[in-house]
Amino acid sequence: MVLLIPEGYLIRKAKEEDIDGVIYINSVTLPEHYTTSFYNSILLSNPDTFLVAEHEGRIIGYHMGRIEYGLALRGFPKFVKKGHVISIAVLKEHRRKGVATMLLKTALEEFTKKGCEVSFLEVRVSNEPAINLYKKMGYEIVDRITGYYSDGEDAFVMEKNLETNLI
Ligand code: ACO
Ligand code: ZN
Repeated sequence: MVLLIPEGYLIRKAKEEDIDGVIYINSVTLPEHYTTSFYNSILLSNPDTFLVAEHEGRIIGYHMGRIEYGLALRGFPKFVKKGHVISIAVLKEHRRKGVATMLLKTALEEFTKKGCEVSFLEVRVSNEPAINLYKKMGYEIVDRITGYYSDGEDAFVMEKNLETNLI
């Protein structure tokens, strides 16, 4: 799957040789970091939702997702297949061009294809750009976790129903 988006950006599945680039983007955009083996294990277990955005041959954004099973947070309590957005980021100079939207849209299509009923994520309550992005993509705030982050900040849990996927 190769998806062209405007202005010379390209969304594609990540490869092993992209991991260093992904780690770099994560290091300059987010306070939450992961070990190299964590990235590699997600690439191995969930290759279709580990995506990168490329511009002029360089990786400038990524989406790392994982399919999980858990209780639905809304409606009648039942176990469902969920698409977890673990981490998404775009380098500063490439923001506000629709890159994250395209990364997320592509990931949501893959989650849906694989039978996920919902997609969910955690986000810092102060992260307005990301919260806006998720709301725009149809996610709703379904929970707040006190002190979720290591610096004590709370997280919103946001969820999107994929059964009526309107993306
Ligand atoms: N302020 C307000 N709203 C914003 C902003 C901003 N600075 N940036 C994006 N948005 C919202 C807007 O609604 C925007 O639509 P619009 O441009 O039509 O108004 C919408 O998001 C889509 O914007 P994109 O251009 O697709 O998003 P972008 O490529 O700029 O990436 C992202 C957004 C990923 C949040 C980027 O700002 C980033 O990398 N931030 C640092 C890393 C981060 O916070 N990642 C999310 C952490 S939570 C998690 O990973 C589960
Ligand atoms: Zn998470």
